[in-house]
Parts: sequence; structure tokens; C-alpha cells
Amino acid sequence: MERKKVLRLPRLRRYAVVAVNVLVVTLLLSALATQVVVADSHDEGESVFGQTCAACHTIGGGALVGPDLEGVTDRREGAWLKIQIQSPSVHQEQNDPISVANREEFGLPMPDLGLTDQQVDAVLAYLGTGEVAPSTLPGLFIPTLAAGVLTIVALTIFALRLGRKRVEIRP
Ligand code: HEC
Repeated sequence: MERKKVLRLPRLRRYAVVAVNVLVVTLLLSALATQVVVADSHDEGESVFGQTCAACHTIGGGALVGPDLEGVTDRREGAWLKIQIQSPSVHQEQNDPISVANREEFGLPMPDLGLTDQQVDAVLAYLGTGEVAPSTLPGLFIPTLAAGVLTIVALTIFALRLGRKRVEIRP
């Protein structure tokens, strides 16, 4: 009579499973950490916007003293935006065509606001995500977490399967 025996996962394979899971968890945590940093800079950007830009600009609320900034990160290039926010006078002196058109349309130049590099980057990040960002932020954590957990479970099952072999033991 044929006897079948299931061989257990060899030790090395178990270590491999553990190592892979540790790696996945590390990657997952660093992804979460990145999102926390993004969240921080988003908060800073939001406060810079509220304190320095909101008097003249809205995001999606229509033009005030200056243009509505909704979708501005899509219609203008990053480097251009950085100069425009940090020192719009540079564009004005260069007779930058967009700046000229904006000044014609709005009837006055945007003033230099003396923001630091970090404040400019933060407000740019905020403009890039727009006002919807605060509510989508928790939505970022959950998919990352879920994807990570699913990966761990899938990898473990996969490795356990691989580690198992049916062998025939003949008398
Ligand atoms: C005193 C009013 C005022 C303040 C404060 C102000 N802006 Fe402006 N902004 C303007 C005006 C007016 C224009 C259009 C004329 C120009 O470009 O000089 C403009 C243009 C812009 C543009 C170009 C938009 C486009 O569609 O081309 C961006 C981007 C911008 N501002 C961002 C900001 C940000 C970010 C802040 C805050 C850090 C800010 N502005 C603060 C008045 C202001």
C-alpha cells in the first residue's frame, strides 16, 4: 500500500518567510512614515496659504485680487510656480508672458512675500493636493495598510505551500 506523507516546511524556508515578512512590514512602515511627512507639510502649506495667500486667492472659490488657484499645479510648471510664489517680481522683471497676461487681467502685480524655501514647498504641496487633501489623507493610510497586510498573508501562504511537498514513501 502507498503511504503519503506531508513533509513540513524546512527550517531555511521558514526563515525566508520571516525575512520576507519583515521586509514587507519595513516597507509598509516607511510608506506610512512618508505619508505622515506629506501630511505635515500639507498642514504647514495650509497654514501658509491661510496666512499669506488667502487674502488674494481662493482655491476653487473664484478670482479675488489674484486668480483662482484651483488646478494651478496642472496648468503651470513646478519651477515657474516656485519663482512666482517666492518672488513674483522676478517674473515681472523678465516680462514673463504668463505674468504679463495675469497682470493685465488682474490689474496689479503680486507682491514679493518673503517666504522661505520650505514655506514655498509646503504651499506648493498644498496647492497640488487642493482643499480635498485633508479628507483624503486618512484614505491614504488605509489602502497602504490593507495592501501591506494582504501582501504579508499572501506571501506567507505562498511560502508555506512551497515548503510543503508530498512524497511517496514506498515500503
Ligand atoms: C496682495 C495680493 C496677493 C497675495 C498676498 C498673493 N498673491 Fe498670488 N497673485 C496675485 C495677483 C494680483 C496675481 C496675478 C498678477 C501676477 O502674477 O503678478 C497673482 C498670481 C499668482 C499665481 C499665478 C497664477 C496663475 O494662474 O498663473 C500664483 C501661482 C500665485 N499668485 C500664488 C500665490 C501664493 C501661493 C500666495 C501665498 C504664498 C500668493 N499668491 C499671495 C496677488 C496676490
